[in-house]
Amino acid sequence: MSKLTLLTNLKQQATLGGGEKRFEEQHKKGKLTARERLEILLDKNSFEEVDALVVHRSKDFGLEKEQYLGDGVVTGSGTIDGRLVFVFSQDFTVFGGSLSEAHAAKICKIMDMAMKVGAPIIGLNDSGGARIQEGVVSLGGYADIFLRNTLASGVVPQISAVLGPCAGGAVYSPAITDFIFMAKNTSYMFVTGPNVVKTVTHEDVSFEDLGGAVTHATKSGVAHFACENEIECLRMMRKLFSYIPSNNIDDAPTFETNDDFHREDEKLNSIIPENSNKPYDIKDIIKLIVDDGDFFEVHELYAQNIVVGFSRLGGKSVGIIANQPSVLAGALDIDASLKGARFVRFCDAFNIPILVFEDVPGFLPGTDQEWRGIIKHGAKLLYAFAEATVPKITVITRKAYGGAYDVMNSKHIRGDFNYAFPSAEIAVMGPKGAVEILYRRDVNGKSKEEAEKYFGEKEQEYREKFASPYIAAQRGYIDDVIEPKTTRPKLIRAFQILENKVDTNPKKKHGNIPL
Ligand code: HXC
Repeated sequence: MSKLTLLTNLKQQATLGGGEKRFEEQHKKGKLTARERLEILLDKNSFEEVDALVVHRSKDFGLEKEQYLGDGVVTGSGTIDGRLVFVFSQDFTVFGGSLSEAHAAKICKIMDMAMKVGAPIIGLNDSGGARIQEGVVSLGGYADIFLRNTLASGVVPQISAVLGPCAGGAVYSPAITDFIFMAKNTSYMFVTGPNVVKTVTHEDVSFEDLGGAVTHATKSGVAHFACENEIECLRMMRKLFSYIPSNNIDDAPTFETNDDFHREDEKLNSIIPENSNKPYDIKDIIKLIVDDGDFFEVHELYAQNIVVGFSRLGGKSVGIIANQPSVLAGALDIDASLKGARFVRFCDAFNIPILVFEDVPGFLPGTDQEWRGIIKHGAKLLYAFAEATVPKITVITRKAYGGAYDVMNSKHIRGDFNYAFPSAEIAVMGPKGAVEILYRRDVNGKSKEEAEKYFGEKEQEYREKFASPYIAAQRGYIDDVIEPKTTRPKLIRAFQILENKVDTNPKKKHGNIPL
């Protein structure tokens, strides 16, 4: 055999993974193979593979007789819309995609390279976890990856797709990354699977219920996206990529848009209901303002009382954090605070300007929230907004009450431009609660009807005085009260003004966010 023929044969062999039969099994489960996934994720013919000829080094349990070129993970680099990205794609057809020493070393190699050149890392996970036959060597391999995930955090974006089982320590690498995509019915994440759960807690639970895509996108918040299938997952990953920069020094790419920068929308002038207790969908407002009505929502199914996601204004990426009056009246609870805080920190780490739409009656009261620590969790959102140094703009559409006024990127915590609609109500608390505290003594001895009438009058007085943006505007806490239809041009101009903003935090090793 000539040297060239040998090379061709080896390269060909490396593409075969665990063999044709196992590829078929993978397809029967509704899953793609590791290489098919990369074909969808990356630009055509852009994949540059490394380490295709690597094999495992184990000599135990008869493994020395079973070797596959590549050892269960395909690694390398490619491009998405022409931008460089490093990828690994685990191959379930080789030892269930399990992680050996060699497999881990391949992943670490591309992570190191991504850090050196400042490019994002995308991991497609489909693995039975630590390769059982290799024991502690495999555990060490995981820890090598976790360390790199942690060091890369905030330096290059890290995006994970979980496209198969992901058990034990294997969940912790995706968990450290910035975004997790899952596919419904074919991907699972859990620390211990249904069988162990049954033994320990006697609960009967299916794979899907315990750790499927919908469970993690709605209940635990571990997954940011629950996609219908793998193809949707991979396409959405490409779309997410378009909003984010390649590293913490770059800016996100700019896109041409035909949406007029000066476009005003009359609908915005009447979109907030007259009755301030009536809900509306904040996403309708967002879509009327951003370029081409395009809003890429993150964590759509989790803590729906806050909405987070990416859009563009004047062709440039912005990260949007918005209270959602149609869910829990937009009140901030633990889950919403965590969801918002994590998103704000991603945007700040990667130079993506922050835009806040605020309509929040306050933090959610109750023993459940208090006992589970709304104080420390709410503080995370406050901390995240306060420490962020990217351009930060707030638009108060309606309620900005109590601590939530401070938290949602107020002027006091370095909001750069703080705007309010004329419908804004900025006060310590809502009129009803306020008068009941202020005038409780005045109704002593009054009949129920008299007391109600008295409270009603005082409420009206309070509403006229405080339930508006004007006292805040007099103080300069609000930079401008704007006609809602002008929001788009106003925001585009404001972000242009802030384009070269420089702000810093005091030098420190790192802060101590209330975890
Ligand atoms: C070696 C493994 C493996 C593993 C699967 N295989 N997991 N080989 N190490 N961890 C092999 C199987 O033996 C089988 O080989 C092939 O992969 C396909 O597996 P199946 O079981 O037939 O597939 P399926 O029915 O789809 O079930 C997939 C699975 C199950 C749910 C992942 O295989 C499973 O439970 N595996 C073990 C999961 C686990 O406990 N991993 C360790 C977690 S602890 P053959 O040749 O028979 O086809 C961990 C510690 C990390 O990861 C700590 C870091 C802090």
